[in-house]
Amino acid sequence: MKLLIIYGTTEGQTRRIAHYMEVLLQNNGHQVTIADTTVNPPSPEGYDAILIGSSIHMHKYQSAVKHYIKKYLAELNQIPSAFFSVSLAVASGLEEENQEVQKITNDFLQQTGWKPMLTTQIAGALKYTEYDYFKRLIMKMISKKQGGATDTSQDYEYTNWDEVNKFTNQFINKVSQKS
Ligand SMILES: Cc1cc2nc3c(=O)[nH]c(=O)nc-3n(C[C@H](O)[C@H](O)[C@H](O)COP(=O)(O)O)c2cc1C
Repeated sequence: MKLLIIYGTTEGQTRRIAHYMEVLLQNNGHQVTIADTTVNPPSPEGYDAILIGSSIHMHKYQSAVKHYIKKYLAELNQIPSAFFSVSLAVASGLEEENQEVQKITNDFLQQTGWKPMLTTQIAGALKYTEYDYFKRLIMKMISKKQGGATDTSQDYEYTNWDEVNKFTNQFINKVSQKS
């Protein structure tokens, strides 16, 4: 199948996840195009299915991802699609954090009008060593609230690659059933 992966990222974790999915799908014999929403992403037209991913920053998804979805809404709602949301909230394992992030996803889908057949929540990363002073401070506060790591001398990756693997397989199985 001809597949498209579109992603929006600030510190690169969503790109890592998108590339991981790309390799999995290629290894399964699919033809995959991958694009960052900020670098002239292609239209979904002509693809059999599309995966879109975005990280959350300050309770919001990447504006370029939102822009892409709004621009191609009609095309998107005509082919099988899935959304992967990347955040720290889901790494906490706290029910109220999960609910909060799920609400951000639900509101986003409602606002854009996009109807993906699958959505998932993926835990991202804390890249303390790459943040500037203020970002590091903010992230330390957020992480503390969520019971996460506060030692800012190192980075932490919370992404569960087995879960990413499962989601990607689930997606491709659903697409295959539809075609
Ligand atoms: C300035 C900043 C704000 C963030 N705000 C949130 C947030 O509101 N909720 C959340 O769950 N995660 C938040 N995060 C965590 C990111 O979602 C997480 O670090 C993710 O891995 C970033 O993905 P990216 O590298 O693809 O941008 C924030 C991270 C930063 C640096």
